[in-house]
Amino acid sequence: MRKKFNYFFMIISLILISNGFAQTTTAAPKPDFPPSYYDIVALFLIAIIIIGFITIVYFEGRKVVVNDERVLQKQPSAFAKFRRAITKTTPVETENELLLNHDYDGIRELDSQIPPWFLWLFYLTIAFAVFYMLDYHVFNSSPLQDEEYQMQVKQAEAERTALVKSGAFLNEESVTLLTDPAAVDAGKQIFEANCVACHAADGGGLVGPNLTDDYWIHGGGIKNIFKTIKYGVTAKGMISWQSQLNPKQIQDVASYIISIHGTKPANPKQPEGTIWKESDSTMVVSK
Ligand code: HEC
Repeated sequence: MRKKFNYFFMIISLILISNGFAQTTTAAPKPDFPPSYYDIVALFLIAIIIIGFITIVYFEGRKVVVNDERVLQKQPSAFAKFRRAITKTTPVETENELLLNHDYDGIRELDSQIPPWFLWLFYLTIAFAVFYMLDYHVFNSSPLQDEEYQMQVKQAEAERTALVKSGAFLNEESVTLLTDPAAVDAGKQIFEANCVACHAADGGGLVGPNLTDDYWIHGGGIKNIFKTIKYGVTAKGMISWQSQLNPKQIQDVASYIISIHGTKPANPKQPEGTIWKESDSTMVVSK
């Protein structure tokens, strides 16, 4: 009997300890929000243990019908023994022996023993506390709250940097002019692949307006050009590019367009729109 009992707790301790080791072996433990796989497993086990205990403690046996009468069927012996072991208590008949001497206005106290199942739960919490302390405060293998927070901040910053790099935050308000050759060259590739049919290879204009002169229909400067490319002027034959080019690509091609300002195209189209000066670099509100 005792053997079986020990076996049960050995398995549970093994699971808890292996859980701890699994966490210590990962080089940089991940912050546990959302809770990690191990946290969920541990919580699940604890819930099962508690529910199991309660079920066993309160289980009385199955009711079966014998000769038209519902009677309590005897529990299978191994289960009954186990149940008795964890609910061991003094029988009501001998309870008198446990009576303590003192008497408070007629209320007398029984010195009954604590139910073993309750004790075991208590021991389990002690074991957990030891394990917890070793894990968090001696071997420092799991991060404390502050460390966890720092790790989350670091991760969020890394994610943000990656997003900024990918241009996810770029819009007509935040876009800036790029002048580094790599970006301008990338913009040139995009221009040659998508825009030359209407704006000519040198930007002099065909169906679309000349992009190299000082005149802009929808405003010059990186922000306005970005906006025109992003949303297009569909009524006039300039499509919206935001479904085909990502914000970074629009920034590149807009920067390229600004880089060819003032060049002399072979067949420049007549100026359209109004003169744009970079000094009044506010955005043109209406199209
Ligand atoms: C199908 C033809 C067509 C293509 C392709 C095209 N555009 Fe246009 N684009 C136009 C037309 C037409 C206009 C003028 C719209 C208007 O009159 O309001 C225009 C206007 C513009 C303007 C605004 C010019 C101004 O004076 O305000 C920019 C900037 C521009 N296009 C950039 C591009 C870029 C970059 C591409 C390629 C990614 C591109 N366009 C592809 C037809 C085109």
